[in-house]
Amino acid sequence: LRIAVLASGRGSNLQAILDAVGRGSLAAEVVGVFSDRTRATALERARNAGITATAVKPSGFGNREQFDEHLFSLIDAVHPDLIVCAGYMRLLSGIQVMARPGRIINIHPSLLPAFKGLHTHQQALDAGASEHGASVHFVSPELDGGPVLSQVRVPVIPGDDAERLGRRVLEREHPLLLATLALLASRRVGVVDHRIQLDGEPL
Ligand code: GRF
Repeated sequence: LRIAVLASGRGSNLQAILDAVGRGSLAAEVVGVFSDRTRATALERARNAGITATAVKPSGFGNREQFDEHLFSLIDAVHPDLIVCAGYMRLLSGIQVMARPGRIINIHPSLLPAFKGLHTHQQALDAGASEHGASVHFVSPELDGGPVLSQVRVPVIPGDDAERLGRRVLEREHPLLLATLALLASRRVGVVDHRIQLDGEPL
């Protein structure tokens, strides 16, 4: 499985992928890392692993569509089978998403469909949730929408604040993402007509 990763910041999920590929526990290759921020730590992590890392600044473009058209032309040039948004903080334009059904996934730190958008740990605490977690989903044009592939549940513990809860969720995100990538690498799961299929059958 040829994977391109989109990341805006820290890149701990990217690092989990790089480490798994490096130790041979994920049958995949990271063929490029792309960011909308020149100073993203994710870029450094990629370069340290010998992977081409490219930053494109949105400010040089008139609108989201133009920026994404350029970004995706760079992504297409490395011929990924799958594009993984791992802490990528921009909404992707619908036209690019619709052109790649079942080929873009995102990891989001909540039990979707609950708590879309930003500050999910605080959202969960404010809602008095007893359980929180993370989801990997296929990307659709709606923010944090699209069919959910996998989730991990994390209990909310009395005394949690957003930081402590977020730290526990992040620890579980990495194995969740790796397990989901292994599933996709097996080619048993995909999307046809916007529905997830397993072994060729709609779920
Ligand atoms: C993760 O919590 C991910 O779920 C969310 O952004 C964060 C990225 O963390 N989309 P990192 O950059 O992978 O460390």
